[in-house]
Amino acid sequence: MNRTDTKVDVLLGLQWGDEGKGKIVDVLTPGYDVVARFQGGPNAGHTLEFDARKFILRSVPSGIFQGGTLNVIGSGVALDPLLFRREVEELEASGHALSQRLAISKKAHLILPTHRLVDAACEAAKGEGKIGTTGKGIGPAYMDKVGRNGLRVGDLLHDFDRKYREAVGRHLSLLKGLGADAGAEAELASLEREWLEAAELLKSFELIDSEQVLNRYLAEGKTILAEGAQGTMLDIDFGSYPFVTSSNTICAGCCTGLGVSPHRIGRVYGIFKAYCTRVGSGPFPTELTDETGEAMCRQGHEYGSVTGRRRRCGWIDLVALRYAVMLNGVTQLIMTKADVLDSFEHIKACVAYRTSDGNITTDFPYEADDRLTPVYAELPGWKTSTGKMQSEDEFPEELNNYLSFLEEELELPIKVVSLGADRKQTIFRYTEEDETIG
Ligand code: GDP
Ligand code: IMO
Ligand code: MG
Repeated sequence: MNRTDTKVDVLLGLQWGDEGKGKIVDVLTPGYDVVARFQGGPNAGHTLEFDARKFILRSVPSGIFQGGTLNVIGSGVALDPLLFRREVEELEASGHALSQRLAISKKAHLILPTHRLVDAACEAAKGEGKIGTTGKGIGPAYMDKVGRNGLRVGDLLHDFDRKYREAVGRHLSLLKGLGADAGAEAELASLEREWLEAAELLKSFELIDSEQVLNRYLAEGKTILAEGAQGTMLDIDFGSYPFVTSSNTICAGCCTGLGVSPHRIGRVYGIFKAYCTRVGSGPFPTELTDETGEAMCRQGHEYGSVTGRRRRCGWIDLVALRYAVMLNGVTQLIMTKADVLDSFEHIKACVAYRTSDGNITTDFPYEADDRLTPVYAELPGWKTSTGKMQSEDEFPEELNNYLSFLEEELELPIKVVSLGADRKQTIFRYTEEDETIG
């Protein structure tokens, strides 16, 4: 059998990350044979909650908790063996053994301990202009990949020690050039032993040519859900550069990060929060630094799952969202954290920007800096607790109005609304002619 019609569905963030991707991938998992991560690394923090338990996944895909789904760490991912080992140990301690459920691409790039040191030194060198990275060595690891100096998971199997020493030598000269103090080398000594042990553990997992395996599955008619990390506005090419991550977070990144052809892409689930957050530096036109932003942060528990940093909060930005919908070819939308706005009197949505010369634009500009002023539409809030609702029939009129308004602005249906962190707090919205989702 060689089917050409089986598709890869993609779920990706449309904002600046933390849209609730992990939760929704977990919810959709029973509908798929495989869940695969295609880019990013342990800069991601994907939170899942069910049965009164909470898990934060960083490199492991979010499909490990339901059914017999196979999970794949794809070739576009940057993997830190040490953080991966910690993640695996925590999961195993909680009764979730991974070895039979997880396969890792041999072509995924390794994050070395020195990548983390270079990340920190680059940030320090930038001073005020720092990106506010997660400090996980993501930029330096992808820099080595593109510079053709990277080490890949498959390298662990052949002559690794020599390749590792060469890479470390290069990084140490780089660190000197960046003015990193002598402490960096001492720090390396303490990190290195544990890292090398963890790299050994990686070898006990199934290391695969993931592009071959995934395409074989597709030919057999197996269904695949690709899980994005970060968000569209953090994309290396189209995000708010240079305040972005170092991979392609957009849908095209699924093709390059898994080795699947564009004609294999099926549904593109675009996920967004009912408002907007960002962690780290960089432009955020609808950011609120007042009590309303505080309330979003408080109600939404907006603290980074990886670094614990407070997330900046603001109203939903439809200029940025339309741009994200366009870049990804989104086919259906998923809105999370609607419950966070339950007590709000009014809800605003940015429909355009006013530029410094007084013009109105609905295009996301080259430089989305402080000189942009959001133009808002204002809608009434629903002032009702939504967390226990079981179906959209229970939705207050104002929530339905907000959803219709967004659907009209974005010209796409919102198929799922999330009303809480728990797996069960998820409402599917169907119309009669809809095929099922998930
Ligand atoms: P991800 O990186 O896109 O997977 O998102 P994160 O896990 O970093 O951040 C989303 C946060 O919101 C997590 O703490 C989730 O548990 C939580 N969350 C997800 N969906 C909802 C929701 O609908 N309502 C509320 N209140 N919290 C949610
Ligand atoms: P998930 O998958 C939110 C941000 C960092 C920083 C910039 C670059 O959980 O949505 P990096 O460490 O990647 O070099 O940092 O990108 N960032 C994220 N923000 N969610 C994430 O992942 C992020 N991953 C990176 O805060 O601004
Ligand atoms: Mg996150």
